[in-house]
Amino acid sequence: MCGIVGYVGAQQAAPILLDGLTRLEYRGYDSAGVAIYDGAELKVAKAKGRLQVLSDLIQGGAAIPGTVGIGHTRWATHGAPSDVNSHPQVSRSGRIAVVHNGIIENYAALKQFLVDQGVPFASETDTEVVAQLIEYFYHGDLLQAVGRVLHRIQGAYALGILCADCPDQLIAVRRDSPLILGIGAGENFLASDVTALIRHTREVIYMEDGELAVLTREGIQCYNHFLQPVDKEISHVDWEIDAAEKGGYEHFMFKEIMEQPQALRRAVFPRIRDGEVYLEDFGLSDAYIRSLRKIYIVACGSSYHVGMVGKYSLERVLRIPVEVSLASEFRYRDPIVGEGTLVLVISQSGETLDTMAALRQAKKLGAQVLSIVNVVGSSIARESDVVLYTWAGPEIAVATTKAYTTQLAVLDLLGLYFARRLGTLEEEEYHAILQELLLLPAKMEQVLEHREDIQYYASQYFNHDSVFYIGRNLDYALGLEGSLKLKEISYIHSEAYAAGELKHGTISLIEDGTLVVALATYDALFDKAMNNVVEVKSRGADVLALTTQAHREAMETLASGLITIPDTHPMLLPSLGVVPLQLYAYYVALMRGCDIDKPRNLAKSVTVE
Ligand code: G6P
Repeated sequence: MCGIVGYVGAQQAAPILLDGLTRLEYRGYDSAGVAIYDGAELKVAKAKGRLQVLSDLIQGGAAIPGTVGIGHTRWATHGAPSDVNSHPQVSRSGRIAVVHNGIIENYAALKQFLVDQGVPFASETDTEVVAQLIEYFYHGDLLQAVGRVLHRIQGAYALGILCADCPDQLIAVRRDSPLILGIGAGENFLASDVTALIRHTREVIYMEDGELAVLTREGIQCYNHFLQPVDKEISHVDWEIDAAEKGGYEHFMFKEIMEQPQALRRAVFPRIRDGEVYLEDFGLSDAYIRSLRKIYIVACGSSYHVGMVGKYSLERVLRIPVEVSLASEFRYRDPIVGEGTLVLVISQSGETLDTMAALRQAKKLGAQVLSIVNVVGSSIARESDVVLYTWAGPEIAVATTKAYTTQLAVLDLLGLYFARRLGTLEEEEYHAILQELLLLPAKMEQVLEHREDIQYYASQYFNHDSVFYIGRNLDYALGLEGSLKLKEISYIHSEAYAAGELKHGTISLIEDGTLVVALATYDALFDKAMNNVVEVKSRGADVLALTTQAHREAMETLASGLITIPDTHPMLLPSLGVVPLQLYAYYVALMRGCDIDKPRNLAKSVTVE
């Protein structure tokens, strides 16, 4: 949600800002803008709608010359999407410009204070309050003025600030919203996401909460909340540039679906050595693991669905109760986190606000927090006691795919690691699962090779306006993700139900031609799944079934459409089963002409509540 880019150097700033903002488009936005110092004053250009509108307005940047500037893609929170509410927001004199991600919670009181002082406001945004307040406190020292503002504003924010009085510098500020500084040669950058910087530099500084930074052409100086200089570590980003490019694919989502076997290899292979699970820098002692009495899994969206799979699989191999909680619920329910409770946080972005808040609460309550995160150096990764990265590489499409499958794989590895220490898995089964984990990428490739079958089914059913996903146990957890994928990108209403619950209500919605996606991969409950298929078929449903090779024949006679996945250990079935469901959602959305990578109203990283 929202994107920030800033540049100071010798090159023309506007094209660099526009390019950086393009890389952030995937995060979701409704308007965009830039502010550039043109040698005499700040020139601001803003436009509601796609970045292209802004780019056309400033002729790809040519209309605003200048070598220092800030840019923004906005996701409206305070004030509707409009040119005037877009960022940058400027102070009354037009000499201070601010771009902002996050929310200033006490903006109304601050605005009233400024209005009482006679300060006129142009927009409805909380961000304009920041720009006006900086000007109010500015008496020749910008950093001091920003410092005074920071002591007065509350909320979550990442800020990029440019002032016409000191146009050789940018100021960056971060609290609870990501901001990264990029180090170039004779030029420096700031951005809310590393993808905006990667074409210019791989040397970055991750800012901590409460820190400020002053960027000039020559260098970057960071400060703590009290404006005391702090030394920062420089990190190297090692992914390839084309990891964040489409590379010939029509959509990022399809590219990322296809990348899954490779992503799995990266997540799993280095972590299996000599027939044992090896977890790098793993800070939880064997004694701690043996003292565990309960595991909470806390996450949002698809990461929550990974947690739902985890509940079934971890309980099975660990014999420890696992409770899965939506982060937005966990944080407000006074959770019972006592001794022997591990809180396992799952997040692709590592920046989801609710998940972050839940993490902090869990830590406050004294729990150890272990996180499974994709984005290296993200807030959740940094604040967790232990972090396991998924190494999926940058995920650009809003609808997650490779992050989901790698999260599952890391969760499986974690389950095996714990089980080994708890002695809850027979030696034979432990090694059988490890073996299957190593085979998983190749089996996933087999599933991907049959994508045309799925495309065919999508062409048969893409007009259905309501779809039900049913399954039991792991298949139910899988259905939750399949259903979410479909609704996210195709806008078809869909629901996932535990198949055993059908009779308690949902079955009344089944009528002639209703599409039911029946998930029947779990061997132990296959017969029950068959019964549910018969049940919905006899009410007129079209059934698209997903099962394993072993059950193909039995299901063939019943279902109108059938997708099979290779047999594997039950714990790993959702990792294979999700791939056809991702492809199905993708092809349906394609046939319906939807904006697959940037679905309406959705953001990749939800950094507001
Ligand atoms: C958004 C994304 C989802 C994602 C969820 C949680 O809603 O669109 O794809 O699953 O946030 O994000 P996280 O980064 O914490 O996994």
